[in-house]
Amino acid sequence: MNGVIMITQFFFTIVIGLYFLSKFKSEQSDEKAIKEHSKTEAEHFNAMRRIHLSEPITEEVRPQNMNEVIGQDDGIKALRACLCGSDPQHVIIYGPPGVGKTAAARLAMEYAKKSDGTPFKHNAKFVEVDATIMRYDERSIADPLIGSVHDPIYQGSGVYGCAGIPQPKEGAVTKAHGGILFIDEIGELPNCQMNKLLKVLEDRKVILESAYYSKNDKKIPTYIHDIFKNGLPADFKLVGATTKKPEDIPEALRSRCVEIYFNPLTKEHIETIIRNACKRMGIDIEDGAVNLFSMYAKNGRDAVKLLQLSKNTVYLDRRYRIDTQDAAWALNACRYTKGMYFDDKEKIIDISVIKPKEKNS
Ligand SMILES: Nc1ncnc2c1ncn2[C@@H]1O[C@H](COP(=O)(O)OP(=O)(O)O)[C@@H](O)[C@H]1O
Ligand SMILES: [Mg+2]
Repeated sequence: MNGVIMITQFFFTIVIGLYFLSKFKSEQSDEKAIKEHSKTEAEHFNAMRRIHLSEPITEEVRPQNMNEVIGQDDGIKALRACLCGSDPQHVIIYGPPGVGKTAAARLAMEYAKKSDGTPFKHNAKFVEVDATIMRYDERSIADPLIGSVHDPIYQGSGVYGCAGIPQPKEGAVTKAHGGILFIDEIGELPNCQMNKLLKVLEDRKVILESAYYSKNDKKIPTYIHDIFKNGLPADFKLVGATTKKPEDIPEALRSRCVEIYFNPLTKEHIETIIRNACKRMGIDIEDGAVNLFSMYAKNGRDAVKLLQLSKNTVYLDRRYRIDTQDAAWALNACRYTKGMYFDDKEKIIDISVIKPKEKNS
């Protein structure tokens, strides 16, 4: 009888042993496959990262200090008044596209930090987000602006997921704590996000909720208990920029911000932007070309874009100066005007038919 029991025990020990051995082997081969796959993927992305196209010209000539933002003296003065000094305020910058709103906002933090009595510390952050691509989920699974709780149901087999611990994820409002949160195209923020943002501006913290949270759960780390109890810090100054009209922006946001306005650029401003950009990029340009571009470019970004096209065109011809005819060609090719004529030798025969751009249009 004992012999039968021993044989049965021996048999089951072998079966269990084989089971665990095969499980161990399959886990090892999974691990190996994952390692190999991630090595190939990492090599692929590292190779991609070594490829660089040239820096866009709009970045290369982006104003590096407030004096280089042309034609917005009042707007810049107001922006500095709002953010510099001992009591900074939230701001909305209104203005048409391509007139320097983003450029000015990006410079604001450094100016604010250097001002007398500023509450911003030397390491205060400038966090930039674009409202047009703000991903969010109505169930708050993901909210890169406000923050969210990564609940165990969505965590899968991660450490917190297995332990059933809800994991708070900070959003841009918390990343900007102690600094400036710049929301470009703030007028495009979905209503739900806008309302949450207003609440954060009011409370200066983000209160998170989760059906998986219990204050009596001993498994949950102390810092997570602290976040659920006291919220995530989110004390920052908001700078929003928009091409929309004030009446299209929610009143509740407007009432919390100082509203400042950037102007459409005049022909003279665009001339200055073109000349500065040429200087920065070492481009030689004829006065007539500057004049033509400034007549037709709709804004600063447009002017820089036209300049880039002309620069590339003349460089392809192995020439190193943009002359009036190059400018006329670029404007014609891009259908800015129908008013230019070329003779057989492709010389402009009459550019006087070009109607000047209306001032401030
Ligand atoms: N007022 C300006 N002064 C100098 N450069 C300007 C100005 N406005 C636009 N630009 C040029 O156009 C580019 C885009 O401007 P940006 O600040 O992004 O415009 P916005 O945010 O108003 O749409 C800048 O990098 C700069 O080269
Ligand atoms: Mg912008």
